[in-house]
Amino acid sequence: VLAIWHQLTKYEIPELKKPSVIMRDRGRVEEIIRNMHGAGPGALQVISDFDMTLTRFAFNGKRCPTSHNILDNSSLISEDCKAKLANFPKSHYYPIEIDSSLSVEDKVPHMVEWWTQAHDLLVQQRIKKDQLAKAVRESDAMLRDGYEVFFGSLKDHSIPLLIFSAGLGDILEEVIEHNGVFHPNVRVFSNYMEFDKNGLLCSFKGQLIHTFNKREGALLNPDQFEQLQDRPNILLLGDSMGDLTMADGVQNVQNILRIGYLNDKVEERRDAYVGSYDIVLEKDETLDIPNAILRYIT
Ligand code: C5P
Ligand code: MG
Repeated sequence: VLAIWHQLTKYEIPELKKPSVIMRDRGRVEEIIRNMHGAGPGALQVISDFDMTLTRFAFNGKRCPTSHNILDNSSLISEDCKAKLANFPKSHYYPIEIDSSLSVEDKVPHMVEWWTQAHDLLVQQRIKKDQLAKAVRESDAMLRDGYEVFFGSLKDHSIPLLIFSAGLGDILEEVIEHNGVFHPNVRVFSNYMEFDKNGLLCSFKGQLIHTFNKREGALLNPDQFEQLQDRPNILLLGDSMGDLTMADGVQNVQNILRIGYLNDKVEERRDAYVGSYDIVLEKDETLDIPNAILRYIT
């Protein structure tokens, strides 16, 4: 049996030999992928995080922006507000978000504080809806290498791509649109802006989504998952430990393969990631592995 398993890596998906790939249990990964291949693209759905999963973490040694950072760095934010953002809150809250020594329960109140402050600050900036596209165009946001193949093959095989993001929905939709890959099979659940009759940002809609309540969001929106219930195989992509539970709203899951991008604090977090994600991609700025797996399944 072992020999068969390793054949998959050896012949069908040689990309799994890439040095950035770490697996807790290669045999199990190969078994899941084989099951997904057997059931075909009609049984598959992809559930993915956005920031730092579909977008690059860094390019030429420089950090790439999250959907929040795109606005923070744009001309839509006053200099005064930028000065505030430069010292706080990111430098305070981001280390808490990625600290592997803290429990999720410990982190949650800090995340709620961070997101609430960020949303409040944005609302104070009187941002206009029709300026968002320009902010995205002028930003350094980049989808990961191989994104055309990724979005394109999901579209070609009518595989739903569900993006579950704690970022800013209006902004990330612009990023996808700007790159020409907002195909009809893509659906986004995120924090969306509410605009007044003059087109000015006045609040955020619905329940706040932060890094560690994606599971609740998934469970609270069963209707969003309804049309996906007949697709029992899930390829899940994330970069945070909070992304691991994004698929909890799907019932009758038969096979789930969780791929985690380990972008930052690699040494400190490697064990936790390898213990939780089926495949860990360490400092890998590409979609090569998801693409190779999709090529084999479809
Ligand atoms: O799409 P995703 O769920 O990854 O988006 C959330 C990310 O945005 C978080 O991982 C967090 O580091 C980042 N963030 C930010 N600025 C904020 C709030 C969150 O850059 N104000
Ligand atoms: Mg992310």
